Amino acid sequence: MSDVKLFSPITLKGVAARNPIAVSPMCQYQSVDGSPTDWHFVHMGRYAVGGAGIVFYEETAVELRGRKTPRCAALFDDGQIPEYRRIAELVRSLGAVPAIQLGHSGGRGSERGPLDGRKPLTEKDADSGWEPWEAVSSSAVQLRKGSPIPRTMDLKDIQQVIEAFADSALRALQAGFEIIEIHGAHGYLIQQFLSPVVNRRKDAYGGSLAGRMRFALEVTEAVRAVWPADKPLFFRISVLDGKGGLWSLDDSIELARNLQARGVDLIDCSSGGLLGDSAMPEVPRVPAYHAPYAQRIKDATGMLTMAPGLITGAWQAENLLRQGCVDLIGMARELMFNADWPVHAARELGVENYLQLFPAEFVPRLQGREEQVGMAKNKVGVPMPCGVTEYL
Ligand SMILES: Cc1cc2nc3c(=O)[nH]c(=O)nc-3n(C[C@H](O)[C@H](O)[C@H](O)COP(=O)(O)O)c2cc1C
Repeated sequence: MSDVKLFSPITLKGVAARNPIAVSPMCQYQSVDGSPTDWHFVHMGRYAVGGAGIVFYEETAVELRGRKTPRCAALFDDGQIPEYRRIAELVRSLGAVPAIQLGHSGGRGSERGPLDGRKPLTEKDADSGWEPWEAVSSSAVQLRKGSPIPRTMDLKDIQQVIEAFADSALRALQAGFEIIEIHGAHGYLIQQFLSPVVNRRKDAYGGSLAGRMRFALEVTEAVRAVWPADKPLFFRISVLDGKGGLWSLDDSIELARNLQARGVDLIDCSSGGLLGDSAMPEVPRVPAYHAPYAQRIKDATGMLTMAPGLITGAWQAENLLRQGCVDLIGMARELMFNADWPVHAARELGVENYLQLFPAEFVPRLQGREEQVGMAKNKVGVPMPCGVTEYL
């Protein structure tokens, strides 16, 4: 389409995207029994219509107890495959690559959604059909004030969850998704194993960095084993735990090396989720706040990276790609604010056929509109005021 990097097609293994703009996963709390609803068609559809290259479906739990709330997505049963396939097909039919993030909330399960203050579910909620469930984690450590303490996973639980990741990955494949991202960030189960803030285990899944990484790596191996070699596998990490945490950037680099050896293609850099009382700072919320971490991981491993976090401008995104710290431009809130951002960014960057990012049906009408807007501007300079009759 152009020599602008933000609007050049990109190929990741056997998957070609029209541009490197990736809609970062966004939980909607609108699922029913884990499955998509009409809401998800609108949510996913608007980004694909707006010209993004890759559209991620929100964090999708690999088993029911791995949801955060009863309205979270989960892909735990073969019977759901046709419902998820409709989403993947919609995104593909609009020119974008359908992708899905798989995860497990661990000790953050059995909560109400963000509009209800993420309070833990209680027996009272059962009356309205939201039965609380037992949350599990690497260790019996309370993750939020007022939340029940999760049960420590035994080796059987661990195997069960690893298998659930593989089974969900297979279902995602059958549903037509082309990229999987494993969610290892934001304080959920995988990070609960990685970080010593939560992981107090004395067995092979705790202790040293190698022990704490074991669960993440076994999940990755199980997913990679069923996910075709020509399809990309991403892994989202929290580069730092969060304020007062214990997981460092050096730990992240070591994890990335190990994930690379197990067939992960891209490290998606995020941060936070677990708090503690060490001196570790939070990542400051400045523009493109995760990009410097992505650069460090890329320098150390040579892996592909993406780093969502306040990327909002066309030239900002273009420059991040030109500087080479990221390979994909991951974005969430800016796209939620303006789902057609890619088209506007393409126009700003001087991409000639920017309207063609929209579905073909839009193009002739919008071309006509652009010409009329241009002509009107040339003629009167400002919009015509009400009451002007000379053209009537
Ligand atoms: C509504 C909403 C829901 C989100 N849900 C998820 C999610 O399901 N999985 C995830 O890893 N991150 C989730 N995030 C984080 C985003 O993917 C993204 O990393 C973050 O918002 C920073 O990017 P931004 O500054 O472009 O919004 C969510 C963010 C928002 C705003």
